[in-house]
Amino acid sequence: MKKPQVFVTRKLTDEVIAMLETVASVEQWTEEYPIPRELLLDRVEHVDAVLTMLTERVDEELLTKAKNLRIVANMAVGYDNIDLAACKRHGVVVTNTPDVLTEATADLAFALLMATGRRVTEANRFLLNGEWTSWSPMLLAGQNVYGATLGIIGMGRIGEAVARRARGFGMRILYHNRNRKHQAEEETGALLVGLETLLQESDYVVLLTPLTDETRLLMGDREFSLMKETSVFINVSRGGTVDEAALYRALVEKKIWAAGLDVFQIEPVPPDNPLLSLPNVVALPHIGSATLQTRVEMAKLAAANIVAVLSEKEPLSAL
Ligand code: GLV
Ligand code: GLV
Repeated sequence: MKKPQVFVTRKLTDEVIAMLETVASVEQWTEEYPIPRELLLDRVEHVDAVLTMLTERVDEELLTKAKNLRIVANMAVGYDNIDLAACKRHGVVVTNTPDVLTEATADLAFALLMATGRRVTEANRFLLNGEWTSWSPMLLAGQNVYGATLGIIGMGRIGEAVARRARGFGMRILYHNRNRKHQAEEETGALLVGLETLLQESDYVVLLTPLTDETRLLMGDREFSLMKETSVFINVSRGGTVDEAALYRALVEKKIWAAGLDVFQIEPVPPDNPLLSLPNVVALPHIGSATLQTRVEMAKLAAANIVAVLSEKEPLSAL
């Protein structure tokens, strides 16, 4: 029997490729930029499995082309780049990489929260620009983190991990979620509230929902206007959950105090995105789960899912 074929859309470690080679022959896109769409459609034509990143769109067109495809293993916890319904129709298994990135992503969410509240990147630019000529009492004064109220929108695994960190900072924790999280409430004292209450009462609003039809443009003019003038907005979910023009207005009109963004509507974010021109915006290039250790774990989990499916076993993290 012919060995199954796997296509990997980015360069991964030798260890991960070796895992895949135990059951398949492997082809890889090794450039530092995403594979162009036409090439991707070409490469997947005869493969049994594809290991994708969030930069690859898996849709009806691709699935129609990839007639032998059995599994799409996405190396991300989010999967808004994949048309799940179409995969189902084509009998293609879809897997993501939950759990292994939870703590690293929560660390980054908290780092961004602190950097934004305490103006860390602005202060760094100030110093590097040679502007530190004297000390003054209110110089680069930020907002308290310790003891502040944190509002988490989307209490999944990452939200819970952020709440655990917040507890160490003596924060009051509110959350908004479709269902109640009893264990998280017990562990962190988090309180389930409606979205309006969360927006009105939180000093830090952290957005962690996946991007779905329900959460697309969840944060708009109305939502930002409910927030406190001293509040900080943090997005570590997907750019599509936020109306960026509304966020820009809220920041310029001082309806909110600052924003920390790891994700954008268009990624890589165009340098002329007006949000990047504001001193009270901390912008990061979608690095939520980017630690050396976590990225290796994510790649291994994606590969293990492919190995399982190609060996007629249950995948570890099917959607
Ligand atoms: C990254 O954004 C992920 O979904 O893993
Ligand atoms: C979502 O899957 C999360 O881990 O928060």
